[in-house]
This record gives sequence, C-alpha cells and structure tokens, in this order.
Amino acid sequence: MKIALASDHGGFELKEKIYKYLLDKNYTVENFGTNSTESCDYPVFAKKVCDAVLKNNYDRGILICGTGIGMSIMANRFKGIRAACLSDKFSAEMTRKHNNSNVLCLGARVLEENLAKELIDIWLTTEFEAGRHQKRIDMLDL
Ligand code: RB5
Repeated sequence: MKIALASDHGGFELKEKIYKYLLDKNYTVENFGTNSTESCDYPVFAKKVCDAVLKNNYDRGILICGTGIGMSIMANRFKGIRAACLSDKFSAEMTRKHNNSNVLCLGARVLEENLAKELIDIWLTTEFEAGRHQKRIDMLDL
C-alpha cells in the first residue's frame, strides 16, 4: 500500500513520528512535508496529498494539522476524496467499512500519539464493505 503523508506546522511533530511508525511497519510512505514547525498553510499540504491519491496512484492519504479539521475541509473539496477526521476507534473502523474513506485527517493537538497510531492501524487494515454502501458513495459526487 502506498501512503501519502503531510501536515502543517501544527501537525509536524506528530507527522514525523507517524512517518517513522509507518516505515517501520513496511508501508511505502511519501512524506510531502511540511518539514519544520515554521508556520505554513494547511490547504497547501492537503492539496499535495489529495493530488497524490487522485493523480499519482497513492492508495491512501494521511493529513495532520492542529485539529484535523482544516485538513478535512480542504481534502473533501476534491472530487474522489473521502476524508475522515477521526478521534475514536469506532469511527476509524466504520469510516473504512461504510465510507471507504481514502484520506485520514488527525489532530495533533487533539490526540495522544498512541491513540493516533491505533487509529491509523485500524484505518489502514479495515476493508470497505461495499454492497449498499457503494450506492451511497456513488451519490456523493454532485
Ligand atoms: C494552525 O494553527 C491550525 O489552525 C491548523 O493546524 C489546523 O488546526 C486547522 O484546522
């Protein structure tokens, strides 16, 4: 699985830990920045990851900002992106089973590191159930 990963300054430190975590688990991961805690604009980094998923054959994207919310607002503006901003394990499972989410947004100022890793593990390993849920996904693109 190829994963595109990025953050803004608010998510930088957690993103670096997640990058190493995913590499240690033998995922193929591209780190699209940001590369420091210097202030930057989350829409720029959300776009990099969404483009990677939509145009460059990345299977999934992970975006981290302070709350995860700005990243998810931006990501969901891209047709074909289904971004989920998560902070609990149940939703991590259900958004894969029911929404086939392809981008995960996390808040570095919301989540403890270990919970962020648990959410990522669940989200990366849970399959889409398709069936009745596919019809609903087909209705998302206006
Ligand atoms: C940056 O301070 C913060 O606004 C950003 O990381 C994010 O939380 C926006 O949704």
